[in-house]
Amino acid sequence: MDQEPINFIDTVINRVFNGDNLSVLRKIPSGSISLVYIDPPFNSKRNYHRKDGSHAYDDSFTSIEDYMAFMKPRLDESYRCLKPDGVIFIHCDYHANAYLRVECDRIFGYDNLINEIIWQRSSGNSLAKTKLNVVTDTILFYGKSEQHTFNIQHIGTCQKTESNWRFDKNRNQYCLVSDLTGLGFNRRFAWRGKMPGDGRSWAYSLEKLEEFYNDGRILTDKNGKPCLYGLIRYVDDVPQQTVSNLWTDFYNLAGGSSERTEYPTQKPLELLKRIILMASNEGDIVLDPFCGSGTALVAAKTLRRAFIGIDDNKEACEISLKRLKETAVFKELIKQNVLNVNKITRIEMRGSTDPIKTQTSLF
Ligand SMILES: C[S@@+](CC[C@H](N)C(=O)[O-])C[C@H]1O[C@@H](n2cnc3c(N)ncnc32)[C@H](O)[C@@H]1O
Repeated sequence: MDQEPINFIDTVINRVFNGDNLSVLRKIPSGSISLVYIDPPFNSKRNYHRKDGSHAYDDSFTSIEDYMAFMKPRLDESYRCLKPDGVIFIHCDYHANAYLRVECDRIFGYDNLINEIIWQRSSGNSLAKTKLNVVTDTILFYGKSEQHTFNIQHIGTCQKTESNWRFDKNRNQYCLVSDLTGLGFNRRFAWRGKMPGDGRSWAYSLEKLEEFYNDGRILTDKNGKPCLYGLIRYVDDVPQQTVSNLWTDFYNLAGGSSERTEYPTQKPLELLKRIILMASNEGDIVLDPFCGSGTALVAAKTLRRAFIGIDDNKEACEISLKRLKETAVFKELIKQNVLNVNKITRIEMRGSTDPIKTQTSLF
């Protein structure tokens, strides 16, 4: 009886590979990946350590030429792995963004730069004495061709950074207090003992005001009269703002964040979720060749995409696996006996001569 041919890509998905990413990338079939996210060393000339002082990884190239000699073959391989309608996000900063962009224009085509995304990663309160504080990273977003997945994203209106939003425990939603009146004369009438101020009228019809009142959305003064600035609006009421190429609505993880693994340069899940939601669909394969603590892999898994993670730091791979095992989707799959997380399998990398130190498998 004919055996069902094994699709090679199926044998490498949902795994975290510990080894040099160039060796692993070379084994991934051409045209198989929907989204690549790379967050490589930035050529920052720093060595990164974990909080306990243990060494994590080095970012100490001798020159920008040395750095680009490292990046070029990895970008070439990423391009090859992408499906014809696949996309890549290259996370970088001012140290090398100009060089990376020129190189990516060459590999992907000048016209296939979809967006240059600027992410404000911190508020910049620290004091820089000889130059301006740098609070932004750049994320270059390229398509392999003109055709690519793009799902419009909206700003979450309950951002922690927007101090005027308050959490209403009773309704389990964020809310904001706003004005019941506006400039004009068309709705100047007394309502529940209150008149709009000079030159102003109610922003809503009498029926709508009563509806708000009966729904408990109007703040009242000590005499029980409506406050003019007293409309409670909930997140769901507010028209959503679409995401532009300037991302300022979440910062890098704060010291006390429960998301933190203490792996240096760990990115927030919210950032990776936005990228993955915006440019891929359920079931697609997301590849992160510099996966670090596994943020992109966790985001992919949570959003029901398949993933491939690579890092040459063993501890990074272990942290990634630990986080993946903790994701709700993963737990559900284990419960259904779909995944056996304890089994470590070795897969034959066809034509492999390059050493791949460890393949830490999730199946
Ligand atoms: C900026 S960190 C990635 C952080 C990650 N995005 C996260 O959220 O945790 C860069 C990672 O690239 C890894 N790395 C550097 N050179 C590599 C190489 N040649 N092959 C595989 N991984 C490499 C480092 O070990 C480090 O974990």
